Amino acid sequence: MHLDVRCKYLAEYSTTQELAEVLNAPEYKQNRSMHIGGGSNLVFTRDYDGMLLHSKIQFINTVNETADKVTLEAGAGIVWDDFVKYCIAHNYYGAENMSGIPGEVGASAVQNIGSYGTEACDIILQVHCIDKHTGKTEIFSNPQCQYAYRDSIFKNEYYNRYIVTSVEYTLSKTPRFTLTYGPLREMASTPMLTLNHVRETILAVRNSKLPNPAETGSVGSFFKNPIIDENQFIALQAAYPLVPHYPAGEGRVKVPAGWLIENAGLKGFSIGGACVYPKQCLVIANTGNATPADVVALYKHIISTVSNKYGIELHPEANII
Ligand code: EPU
Repeated sequence: MHLDVRCKYLAEYSTTQELAEVLNAPEYKQNRSMHIGGGSNLVFTRDYDGMLLHSKIQFINTVNETADKVTLEAGAGIVWDDFVKYCIAHNYYGAENMSGIPGEVGASAVQNIGSYGTEACDIILQVHCIDKHTGKTEIFSNPQCQYAYRDSIFKNEYYNRYIVTSVEYTLSKTPRFTLTYGPLREMASTPMLTLNHVRETILAVRNSKLPNPAETGSVGSFFKNPIIDENQFIALQAAYPLVPHYPAGEGRVKVPAGWLIENAGLKGFSIGGACVYPKQCLVIANTGNATPADVVALYKHIISTVSNKYGIELHPEANII
């Protein structure tokens, strides 16, 4: 978010042995702590009076391979988009729709990142962790991770309990594209479609809608897209016939928060240095000098405006600390 905030300690480690040393250090034991990935989905509302841990475990190994599938194990500290590039360079199918998502491999398994019709849980086989309480290694299968939309067991029952050290992903060695998302649909008829072609298209869509993290602070989507029940949706659609929507299973409907925010007149609205990003209203951007208080005031204003207008409660997708 490009906010000027500090932590008391930052511990980075490159191996699980070094992680064990960190977990035994007095600075760790005597302070509160939190594990971070690339930090790209975090909003610190003030300085962090404790220790942040960050993995620099960086490797990509092939752990299993058949005629049409490959399983790769990637260290939690690998930059997510470097993993995507690795898959594309080796002609492995499955990660390409998630090109350009900021962050790291470890967080992909916690947050169940996703974009353009694919989620990390579609390719995750299992997740290797260290239990902070016992120091022991544990492996969670995909079903054990209880994946849902931007959600997993690591954000709920096991919040702050396990540290992800590596993630195994299974990818296809034979062409298999997911072209369900609007701008990708027309690619289905492209002869000889390549992984690079899909990646370039996705990066172009991202560039047109989302701020470049190197230049403009943001956390990508600040809110989750709300999922409402059918009756509430019928009433919403009666009042706003153009509202975009997607089926969310069990008769429920997902409505884009970006549309709700824009249609509530908040496009470009700002408080201090924090603004509703005009090209994608689901994003709060730091226009250069935002303080944590500006970001907090703006996101709360968005929640109350949307709630008053539609009776729908938005929930942050970002981790607000
Ligand atoms: N829309 C508006 N105004 C806006 C923004 C969106 O009317 O300001 C409308 C669009 O026209 C479209 C619909 O809302 O009809 C959906 O917009 P878009 O396709 O841009 O996707 P999104 O629902 O806003 C989600 C993810 C993104 C992901 C994209 C593409 C969430 C919270 N966000 O956004 O993820 O890149 O789909 O798959 O699920 C992120 O998690 O940080 C993130 C960027």
